[in-house]
Amino acid sequence: LLSHCYKRNMDVRTGFIVSLCLMGLTCAEPVKYLDCGSKSGKVATVDITPCASQPCQLHKGQSYSVNVTFNSAVESQTSKALVHGIIAGVPVPFPIPMEDGCKSGIQCPIQKQQSYHYLNSLPVKTEYPAIKLVVEWELRDDDKQDLFCIRFPVQIVS
Ligand SMILES: *[C@@H]1O[C@H](CO)[C@@H](O)[C@H](O)[C@H]1NC(C)=O
Repeated sequence: LLSHCYKRNMDVRTGFIVSLCLMGLTCAEPVKYLDCGSKSGKVATVDITPCASQPCQLHKGQSYSVNVTFNSAVESQTSKALVHGIIAGVPVPFPIPMEDGCKSGIQCPIQKQQSYHYLNSLPVKTEYPAIKLVVEWELRDDDKQDLFCIRFPVQIVS
């Protein structure tokens, strides 16, 4: 998507398109993340939309789309997502509407050496406190090993 934006850069509509990208409206920008021990896969990119500047500002009452592109090193019939919010070093379970990775853009069974886009949404409830925290997102295979484990900082805002 980003390269698509840059190509459009040459266009007459440059300013318009670029400012849309900057506002995070049409272009997903790869998010800076830490790998927290992806064992049975390798992460290529992480996109959060919308996320205009980093750390991503998550507005209460809104939902954000998450797109993790990874390569699997194993075969797996299943995949299960686990999300935690790490607040002052303590991981707190963060409920997501769909835990089944096989219903989140991944066609199961997962094949070895195949690239996948894991697509899910991150709903930010109004009752969440307005704080900075680190989101830890894991996707586990049949053997409960992480196909990916990523950490990225976010800021919850009112
Ligand atoms: C997910 O991200 C990848 C890599 O940036 C991109 O190629 C793909 O189109 C994205 N998928 C969606 C549905 O946004």
